Amino acid sequence: MAIRKILKIGHPILHRRADPINEINEEIIALARDMVETMHLAPGIGLAAPQVGVSQRIITIDLSIGEKPEELIIMINPEIIEAEGETVEEEGCLSVPEIREKVVRPAKLLVRGFTLDGQEIEIEAKNLLARVFSHELDHLDGKLFVDRLSPLKKSLLYRRLKKQLSLDI
Ligand code: NI
Repeated sequence: MAIRKILKIGHPILHRRADPINEINEEIIALARDMVETMHLAPGIGLAAPQVGVSQRIITIDLSIGEKPEELIIMINPEIIEAEGETVEEEGCLSVPEIREKVVRPAKLLVRGFTLDGQEIEIEAKNLLARVFSHELDHLDGKLFVDRLSPLKKSLLYRRLKKQLSLDI
């Protein structure tokens, strides 16, 4: 296992749609393990492959940050089947340093995808888990949480980040 570098906003991989995974091979299994380790160390409660520079559709989620192994979710090619309601909470992202903003997300989600063993699974997520699924699925579509803010707020934030981090965005 290895810790991978987390890319920051402005890197092109974070801003493009990731490709579906067609085969769960050794490379994908190693990627998943590295993502879990990288997420736990950060520490974060969710990570999407584009954040570690891999433009493929796989996410890891662990609300317990390594405390409860049964809470670890690794999902390949996740898809939202149903979304219900709306909640507004502050959130951040390992790829967007120092920024936390209120973001509207579905209150409840039904997500379908595949485990590392190739089993199809469905997960019903509510509240924080639904928020993290929505956030990580956005990453797979090249969208960061700041892209969900109002156009004015978004342009102010991008300008601030550009100055702070000398980012090319
Ligand atoms: Ni994120």
